[in-house]
Amino acid sequence: MTNGQGTYHFPKGFLWGTATASHQVEGNNLNNNWSAWEEAGRTVHKSGLAADWWGGRWREDFDRAAETGQNAHRFSIEWSRVQPTPDTWDEDALEKYRAMLRGLQERKMTALVTLHHFTDPLWITEKGSHGSGQGWESDEIVPAFEKYVRKVVDALKEYVNLWVTINEPNVYALSGYVVGAFPPGKKDLKLSMKVMANLLRAHAAAYRTIHELQPLARVGYALHYRPMVPRLKWSPLDRLMRNIRYNGINMAFPSAISTGVMKSPVGNQSIPEAKGAQDYLGLNYYSVDTVWFDITRPGELFSNSGYPKGADLSDTNFLANIPEGIFDSIKWIERTYPNLPILITENGVEDSDDHLRPRYLAQHLHQVWRAVNFNWQVKGYFHWSLVDNFEWERGWTQRFGLWGLDLDTQKRIRRPSVDLYAEICKENGISSEMIQKYCPEVFEKIFPG
Ligand code: FCB
Repeated sequence: MTNGQGTYHFPKGFLWGTATASHQVEGNNLNNNWSAWEEAGRTVHKSGLAADWWGGRWREDFDRAAETGQNAHRFSIEWSRVQPTPDTWDEDALEKYRAMLRGLQERKMTALVTLHHFTDPLWITEKGSHGSGQGWESDEIVPAFEKYVRKVVDALKEYVNLWVTINEPNVYALSGYVVGAFPPGKKDLKLSMKVMANLLRAHAAAYRTIHELQPLARVGYALHYRPMVPRLKWSPLDRLMRNIRYNGINMAFPSAISTGVMKSPVGNQSIPEAKGAQDYLGLNYYSVDTVWFDITRPGELFSNSGYPKGADLSDTNFLANIPEGIFDSIKWIERTYPNLPILITENGVEDSDDHLRPRYLAQHLHQVWRAVNFNWQVKGYFHWSLVDNFEWERGWTQRFGLWGLDLDTQKRIRRPSVDLYAEICKENGISSEMIQKYCPEVFEKIFPG
């Protein structure tokens, strides 16, 4: 490339999409652990109608996606809708998901379907006539999840070839059982590792069940992977904290899938059925953490994390724009599992006025392109997210959509990033003109002259 002009092309057949999750977009989900969490006042806002997909607005949003050049979409199935009680299946709910999948097919979009994205039916997590109240702490979860997966896959397999078993099992286990911000709000590292082990067993069971029903399906999970650096490279304590945290947050699933043994800060655990249980790896990448030793935080095993001074921070300081991190993450996957197909199952930034998103998007995709040019097997990119949606404990304070959402009117607001992403998807590449038009401030970084 000379004079800083040109186009970075992606391989033919590259999947370009966005990602969503049931509880964040559907609205009126009243039968899961997150609605109970909202009722208990543990979230900034309630999900309410969300983006009203259950009311049918997925149609207009799928139109938006298709019209702007996207050829794929990732969404999730709400377990509490499909199986509202242990002994009932809601066939109408399954039919709605089939309609959504037909909707993608009609728009020539490939479906990537997640079977578990943070939410559990109340009967799984609450004490009652059926539930033990132990959710993923109990070994009973594994056959229960397998049964649900069998039902869903059987009903939807006609339209779906790509499955995500579980979204961010590490975030589920750590946020719910160490940090306490997710239900059930516990702070017990040992218990979190028990939950992680059950998530792994359930993933392995789902992997096998899906292949039994659909031998050619491609099955994986979505890993929230955080690259980490010690704040002071020369400090042994910062390096130690970085390593402990890195292994604790990132490595449980990958280690078990590589070796059949789950690595954990409170001891390793043999889960032989997890070995090799993936056809691709889903990468959710958002940012890189700087880690240091902090004597005041015994609860966090004396570690703390943040972003470097002067970082390009997001709206609510939740994320820093560190695009090289996505390249490093892909490189780590490639080194760990040579030639394994990779999907970027999530990447994005909260940015209500869209001042940062265009450069975040362009710079990250530039790094994905660099990875693709090493022949690393990245097959697609799913931006988080299509339209603003309910951001868990942070409610509606964080706006991750390409389209904004006016909650009072359900009106969608077209942010400039919509058009940038549309140009990228349609071109199957990033051109110097696009960068000049949408984020000239990083032109030199992407197209050095
Ligand atoms: C990920 C979650 C997704 C969304 C984004 C911003 O951790 O998988 O549901 O909340 O963060």
